[in-house]
Amino acid sequence: MRGILLAGGSGTRLYPLTRAVSKQLMPVYDKPMVYYPLTTLMLAGIREILVISTPDDTPLFQRLLGDGSQWGLTLSYAVQARPEGLAQAFIVGSKFVREEPVCLILGDNIFYGHGLPDVLRETATMTSGARIFGYGIRDPERYGVLAFDASGHLSDIVEKPANPPSRYAVPGIYFYDGTVVDRARSLTPSARGELEITDLNRLYLREGLLGATKLGRGVAWFDTGTYESLLEAAIFMEVLEKRQGIKVACPEEIAFRLGYIGREEVLRMASSYKNDYGRYLCEVVESGEDQWK
Ligand code: DAU
Repeated sequence: MRGILLAGGSGTRLYPLTRAVSKQLMPVYDKPMVYYPLTTLMLAGIREILVISTPDDTPLFQRLLGDGSQWGLTLSYAVQARPEGLAQAFIVGSKFVREEPVCLILGDNIFYGHGLPDVLRETATMTSGARIFGYGIRDPERYGVLAFDASGHLSDIVEKPANPPSRYAVPGIYFYDGTVVDRARSLTPSARGELEITDLNRLYLREGLLGATKLGRGVAWFDTGTYESLLEAAIFMEVLEKRQGIKVACPEEIAFRLGYIGREEVLRMASSYKNDYGRYLCEVVESGEDQWK
């Protein structure tokens, strides 16, 4: 399975923070936001990843992430000229996707939780249909929302409904089979002028090809669309990392533990950080390849 990391958009909701720099490059505690979705793809076992961003920001992502080889990944880049919808990612990335299964993750969505890597790895083995997730929250009306029929089967997905049909919002990680590019091409823009991911998912749903998995309470999902949610995500990571003495979403560590890179590579990268991040990478190596700390 391939991965698309969509990190464009106008970011106007976070102005003036994002006037000069992409939202997905903002810090979330000790690392750039994009590290979180990138490592979520890594934990799903995905190594070939296309990063899509704006004409101005794509070179910044290239400078930060490079070709991915330092983490055992193959990263490539594509430009979305205008933010014309999440489903446009498959049209922009059609040459990359070809007819392979693909996972789309939004560059501003952060996931953390017990058992999540297992769920993602298992979902990434799918080859037909589409899989999305549902996450119970207090304010689902800000998102795509799942609707269920009387027998509890998924019956619809509604984008930002005034009256949400359930508490289950659809987080920004989606898995599709190789027909996704053709389906995305068949969409027409919504009232807000975008090719909607919700409309794409409804195409699969109508054909009985969409599965939705509920993410339980043990999983944390943050989107970072407001100042408050950006700060909350940072505080969550700070508390967790300080308490446990670990780092969340550290690509060097994940690449090492997955066996993509060896001790020498990690130590070389560690030596370029004269701070806690570098010290942490040295500790990771000392703890050995097989152990998750
Ligand atoms: O966060 C999950 C939600 O993402 C889903 O529940 C919704 O169903 C889905 O429509 C989307 O909701 P938003 O409308 O809030 O997405 P937003 O416009 O904020 O875009 C999400 C991210 O994708 C954001 O970081 C900007 C980026 N983006 C957005 C668009 C429209 C792009 O890179 N290109 C785009 O064309």
